[in-house]
Amino acid sequence: MMLGFIYQFLHSSFLWFWMKWFLRQVTGKCELQRICHGYQPGAARTSRIENSLKSSKNKVLQDAVNVQEDAVESCVTHIMKEKQIKEQKDPKFKVNLRQCLVQISGYNALFLSVEEQRKEVFDSDNEAHEKMLLKLWDLLMPSVELESRITKQWGNIGFQGDDPKTDFRGMGMLGLVNLVFFSEKYTATARHVLSHANHPSLGYSYAIVGINLTEMAYSLLRSGALKPHFYNTVAGKPHIDHFHQLYCYLAYEFDKFWVEEKPASIMEFNIYREKFHDKVKGFLLEPEVSLVLKIESKNCPDD
Ligand SMILES: *[C@@H]1O[C@H](CO)[C@@H](O)[C@H](O)[C@H]1NC(C)=O
Repeated sequence: MMLGFIYQFLHSSFLWFWMKWFLRQVTGKCELQRICHGYQPGAARTSRIENSLKSSKNKVLQDAVNVQEDAVESCVTHIMKEKQIKEQKDPKFKVNLRQCLVQISGYNALFLSVEEQRKEVFDSDNEAHEKMLLKLWDLLMPSVELESRITKQWGNIGFQGDDPKTDFRGMGMLGLVNLVFFSEKYTATARHVLSHANHPSLGYSYAIVGINLTEMAYSLLRSGALKPHFYNTVAGKPHIDHFHQLYCYLAYEFDKFWVEEKPASIMEFNIYREKFHDKVKGFLLEPEVSLVLKIESKNCPDD
């Protein structure tokens, strides 16, 4: 607490500059080297490297936080030259800095691919889109046939009207892909969650809430709040499936939260969504955070 305060104070003031200079004289290492040596791989190291680069007065270091994946190698060389770090004297530094930059650029690239999927509008004339929607039904409702493409039956998996396409508006294909990913990877769990959602008094709209949780995941990604999670759980460059996986965590945990809290009705969705959102944001402040889905066996013996 106290140390954190001192750190913040120093960092925000000009004293930090002299502090770094002093440490460099004493240890013979610059701040980047001290971080690479002093902290474990993951958020502990990568977030500190990222902050150090961002607050640097040196343009080469500052620009490194926006490096593209294919330029990481030359960026590392550039930084080492700039800071006069000799590879022979500190051979591990290069490897560690490279890994941090791969994670930093990977997160930015992940956001771009997620954004691309979100901007892809669900299109009834697109065969792949239609197929995916029908797949969602089959995964969740294996023993019930859809009577037609436009039908009230969609309500049984929590869509609003008789054509789900209108429900994808805000999140586009990202919402649908997340729903299908969860149902496909964790079929029994997804059906179990659906059974809670379809509870006559404690229920909620499964698909609508799922799309809403996609938005939660998306905005956490956009704000950078998910950095510690990805830095801790993916050693290299994250793939969009890692994002879908995070959605699975949210879908599962939100349902558990909802069932435990027993809201009086779906009218209280806003309140409980915010409570859940705050809970997740709280987890993301812990340096060791890893939002990985852990299924309790009572909720799904066979996944
Ligand atoms: C999700 O729910 C919140 C609270 O009801 C709402 O403000 C937000 O617009 C919803 N987002 C989507 C994409 O439905």
